[in-house]
Amino acid sequence: MDSFEFNKIAAAILIALLTIKGADLISNHLIEPHMLKENVYKIAGVSSSSSGAPTEVAKKGPAPIEPLLAAANVQQGEAAFKKCTSCHTIEKGGPNRIGPDLYGVVGAPKGQHQGYAYSSALEKKGGTWTLDDLNEWLYSPRDFVPGTKMSFAGVKDDKERADLIAYMMKQSDSPMPLPEVKEAAPSSKEPEPKNDVKKEGH
Ligand code: HEC
Repeated sequence: MDSFEFNKIAAAILIALLTIKGADLISNHLIEPHMLKENVYKIAGVSSSSSGAPTEVAKKGPAPIEPLLAAANVQQGEAAFKKCTSCHTIEKGGPNRIGPDLYGVVGAPKGQHQGYAYSSALEKKGGTWTLDDLNEWLYSPRDFVPGTKMSFAGVKDDKERADLIAYMMKQSDSPMPLPEVKEAAPSSKEPEPKNDVKKEGH
């Protein structure tokens, strides 16, 4: 077999392989895996199961916020706030969406953001958004303000709630200081290795 012949064969094989791989890639795109099953819009708190790790089972109420805030992580709070952005902005002068803009909400009177039509339940709640109130609200809006129109299950994870509140505190013209921020909590909740897959053999 001369080398030209050989090249042709090699090329043919190569093309065949590429075609198969190409078809594979294309079909992967055509047939998108359906990952939805849950969490279409419902967020947080609602254990989004499928990934295996069961989220904490709801306790009776939120843990006290102050000690949690001491170890809170603003960046992680910002990330966690993504759960809220379908309904809320948190920039100064940001637009109201399904819920009001939340800039400066920590410490502000409840249900008073300009140009937003609150439920009468929240309007009547009264008082300001203290850390404790926010803690309870974010744990379970409907328990804290029955009749609220914030249809959000709540954030049951203490650390996440604290992170969120720490982040929200910063989004303000005059941010409240975090209580006793200790530098770098030694292990900021690295997700534990989910399952120790045993390697067969060595
Ligand atoms: C599905 C939409 C939705 C999601 C998601 C949502 N909210 Fe809300 N939120 C609302 C609505 C609607 C209101 C107004 C409630 C009322 O008037 O009863 C509200 C009100 C609030 C208030 C009170 C504001 C004020 O001016 O008194 C705070 C604080 C708040 N939300 C925080 C959050 C945070 C933090 C998250 C994410 C962890 C979140 N919300 C997620 C819809 C939502």
